[in-house]
Amino acid sequence: MNHPAPPTPPTPSTPSTPSAPLTNLTSPNAQAQPLLEVRNLCKHFTIKAKAKAKDNIKGKKKGQMSSILKAVDGVSFDLYPGQTLGIVGESGSGKTTCARCVLRALDPTCGTVRFRSAGGLVDLAQLHPRQLKPLRQEMQMIFQDPFSSLNPRMTVGDIIAEPLVIHRMGSRAQRAQRVVAMLERVGMQANHMYRYPHAFSGGQRQRIGIARALIMKPKLIVADEAVSALDVSVQAKVLELLQELQQEMNLTYIFVSHDLSVVREVCDHVAVMYKGRIMEMAPAAQLYTNPEHAYTKVLMSAIPHPDPDRKLKPLRVTDLTPQQLEPLTSTSAISQV
Ligand SMILES: Nc1ncnc2c1ncn2[C@@H]1O[C@H](COP(=O)(O)OP(=O)(O)OP(=O)(O)O)[C@@H](O)[C@H]1O
Ligand SMILES: [Mg+2]
Repeated sequence: MNHPAPPTPPTPSTPSTPSAPLTNLTSPNAQAQPLLEVRNLCKHFTIKAKAKAKDNIKGKKKGQMSSILKAVDGVSFDLYPGQTLGIVGESGSGKTTCARCVLRALDPTCGTVRFRSAGGLVDLAQLHPRQLKPLRQEMQMIFQDPFSSLNPRMTVGDIIAEPLVIHRMGSRAQRAQRVVAMLERVGMQANHMYRYPHAFSGGQRQRIGIARALIMKPKLIVADEAVSALDVSVQAKVLELLQELQQEMNLTYIFVSHDLSVVREVCDHVAVMYKGRIMEMAPAAQLYTNPEHAYTKVLMSAIPHPDPDRKLKPLRVTDLTPQQLEPLTSTSAISQV
């Protein structure tokens, strides 16, 4: 059978900082091999803007000019099975774009995303959509807003079973059985499968989102601000559930959040992003007790102290010099762990 040729790979583009892998996260055991090897990942957006009449730029159509926004610019990391990598940074630093490129929900501009699947290492960045489809079962995403990510016209049972239907897995009865087991596992009841998302609280809806993400027994979960929309007590319970499920199913997480105190609780390693680049990556405990990068210190200074009488003294990123906003090199603290 003749298959159409895979699309030509995206035109390579050079990240601002040529990066040897910035970080080599410590493996939980000597034999383990990374589930994910990301190298020099970039996503550049072309931003079109109207030029003012006085701007006369050679080669541009009158009234139009464009610029390149480097949303992700040379990101590299390894992630081992069963580990959680946190990605933190201020709004617009490129966290979501990076996570979406890793899952190939967005096509990267350049770089490789090698994922360990049954057939060996595959570069997700280069795969044809048809080759990507079976791998989608192994990678799932949990979104920030459980309400808008759940179809309001589908019952909870149909929402959770949808990935099984797409991948033609099991009979109707077998799918229903799996949905019930999954619902119960995330702390919901079997009869909730007949209801619609609007009948649930934010925390319950996030549990439904987790059930849908896990029904295919994936290896990698990307949780993008998964608990940010929940109030603190519900947040704690959902985080606890995610940690239990990780243990049980040996899940590997990428946990994107702007909330450093949440990341501290659940992550093994944390990558700090600023303007599309990883400034510093280190084991969570080390990053929080001994941040090396000036930008990490800025982020840390904004975390409220448990003692309410202790005043916050936030540092400002605008006080940092361009040199201070360069990423730490590969000889950073991580290699000493
Ligand atoms: N489709 C797009 N077209 C153009 N620019 C985009 C697009 N998607 C994201 N960007 C830009 O890329 C940059 C990074 O965006 P991204 O959403 O990844 O940031 P973020 O760190 O997730 O922020 P937040 O914490 O607010 O979610 C931003 O400047 C954003 O405006
Ligand atoms: Mg985001």
